[in-house]
Amino acid sequence: MPFKWFFALFTSVFLLATPVFAKPEVVNVYSFREAKLIQPLIDEFYQQTGIKVNVVSGKADKLLARLIEDGQDSFADLLLTSNVARLEKAKQLGLIQPIQSDYLNRQIPSTLRDSDGYWYGISVRARAIFYAKDRVEHTDIKRYQDLTDAKWRGKICVRKGSHVYNTSMLASFISLYGEQWAAGWAQKLAGNLAMRPQGGDRDQLRNINNGVCDLAIANSYYYGMMSASDKQADRAVYQNVGIIWPEQKSVGAHVNISGAALTSAAKNKANAIAFIEFLLMPKAQKIYAEINFESPVRNDIKQSALVESWGPFVADYQSIGKLSRYLDKAEAIVKRTPW
Ligand SMILES: [Fe+2]
Repeated sequence: MPFKWFFALFTSVFLLATPVFAKPEVVNVYSFREAKLIQPLIDEFYQQTGIKVNVVSGKADKLLARLIEDGQDSFADLLLTSNVARLEKAKQLGLIQPIQSDYLNRQIPSTLRDSDGYWYGISVRARAIFYAKDRVEHTDIKRYQDLTDAKWRGKICVRKGSHVYNTSMLASFISLYGEQWAAGWAQKLAGNLAMRPQGGDRDQLRNINNGVCDLAIANSYYYGMMSASDKQADRAVYQNVGIIWPEQKSVGAHVNISGAALTSAAKNKANAIAFIEFLLMPKAQKIYAEINFESPVRNDIKQSALVESWGPFVADYQSIGKLSRYLDKAEAIVKRTPW
């Protein structure tokens, strides 16, 4: 080969190897949250690391089904989803792999992450009780058990029992008080419902404001979101409906997590781990608390001012790691209950 050709070949190979022509660093995320809600986090991460975060968002169960379908061909590196039961399911199905990260282990309490490192909690969400400020003396209700009192017959609204938010709560009751207790609770609650369950958590709060019921069970971040809604009607719901943190003198309110996990098919493993670690940094945890009205998993980061205004909050962290064990039993209870 003439030298000038050799030289030309050498320089082109060299140029290909230089960063100018290198593929951009990315991490591909399946998220149950709309991309626009986590956009401030994505922008901040890109500025700090130069890694681009691509997000496919959808309903948590659909994303999980898609992961199963695509198997090792999945382009997703990272799963961001809600509910510990879904994360446990992903672990059992081999869809996610463990991460060893001292940083994550230090920042996240052991009750809010998998002991084998398969999933890590990012935020904590509580299932609270809500009441009509003009019709209910809120001091009457301190426990989930109080909702089964006969005086609330026809006065309670809750979404369908089969929704994972409710089956997870019921699973935590089985873990705490046994199957029989949980079945009795569900039966009596169903007897107190104001209507056949319809709609999501936000609809139950709207039902209180419309006078359909006096009490409801819903995740507290929806209440926070309604306070900041661009719909006047939803802001009115926030004004007229009050929140009660249940079980404050006993085990604490039922909570679940939103969490992150590295997929088994991950092609951008280091970037994915870097993004999870970023989500646990103080700045990201603050953004999470302010945008989503959930509790940060880090103990050193405060809740948003709005959530703080709802009063001191004790959460049942202990049940989180146990509840997926009882989910089948909880689902069976719901099936035989008119809820
Ligand atoms: Fe939700």
